[in-house]
Amino acid sequence: MHVLGIESTCDETAAAVVVDGRTILSNVIASQADLHERYGGVVPELASRRHIESIVPVVDAAIDNAGISKEHIDLVAVANAPGLIGALLVGVNFAKSLSFALGKPLIGVNHIEAHLYACVMSSKVAIPFPVLGAVLSGGHTSLVKMDDVGNYTLIAQTVDDAIGEAFDKCARILGLPYPGGPQIERLALNGDPSRFPLRAGNVKGRPHDYSFSGLKTAVLYTAKGVGCQKDSPLKISESQLPDLAAAFQEAALNDVVDKMTSAARHHGCRAILIGGGVSHNKRLRALLEEKCPLPTFWPAPGLSLDNAAMIAGLGFHRFQQQGTGDSLELPVLTRSNFIS
Ligand code: KG4
Ligand code: ZN
Repeated sequence: MHVLGIESTCDETAAAVVVDGRTILSNVIASQADLHERYGGVVPELASRRHIESIVPVVDAAIDNAGISKEHIDLVAVANAPGLIGALLVGVNFAKSLSFALGKPLIGVNHIEAHLYACVMSSKVAIPFPVLGAVLSGGHTSLVKMDDVGNYTLIAQTVDDAIGEAFDKCARILGLPYPGGPQIERLALNGDPSRFPLRAGNVKGRPHDYSFSGLKTAVLYTAKGVGCQKDSPLKISESQLPDLAAAFQEAALNDVVDKMTSAARHHGCRAILIGGGVSHNKRLRALLEEKCPLPTFWPAPGLSLDNAAMIAGLGFHRFQQQGTGDSLELPVLTRSNFIS
């Protein structure tokens, strides 16, 4: 079954063709990072406008690169939640129109669930359920017990900033462009984390929940002085920036790994799946290897940042489970918990 996946939840316009939920024939991603870089974050209206410009060429390229024509598409899968309203509407309305025009079924997919599914479709071996799924992205940070694909229990989440958002905000404080995660990781390579004693937060009575806003403020005050404004000049020298980046990264990632390992043990999980853009971070992989005794499953290259192959993959799976597509009334949901 040839599934066309479409992704437009935030600042990537993406389309992919995947066969039977696993074999990726094409995976086209048009990033908008250049557009949002100067604002230090995604500007929703600009994102929507760029999606409108990109959606036709991106879908065309995905079909061309797959070596098929649009008549070969058997199912149109689209991320319909969660995300920015204008951005979502572009992808979902395009997918509905294409499904209608081709007379092929449509299926809606949750973007966050798809980040976890990226690990399932990347794995050469069967996933040993139950596992702990960790969603580490720019908009979400949560730990989920997965008894199977589609069967989830929420275990923990962030009470304030998402982990990727914390990376982006710290990068901005240090004068680095958006998206900040890769920038912080690069800068931290030459830093000594012990120069600045930083720690992520804990949530009273919820041992596996995350809190990163205090850590972000600690980075701000260390960089620019206590009580400073966000746009105040740096107080520390250029040569100290790598140390501060490394101290932030160590504090944030050790917290992520420690709570993940403890939650997995506590809930009887046999492995850990890591999804979302932050799974790209090599230090995260090294820390998990060092501290977590359980096997870990990661997205294959091309499937960790926002992409449409994971949407097509999960779309195929949902279509098989449901036995039918969704109606053309498929709603767009800006907030949506895939855990029922
Ligand atoms: O999953 P994703 O592509 O989009 C969302 O659904 O949010 O994640 C994007 C996030 C951004 O916050 C970005 O800074 C972060 O993932 N990220 C990283 C790295 N690469 C991307 N964070 C830390 N280290 C990285 N290497
Ligand atoms: Zn994402």
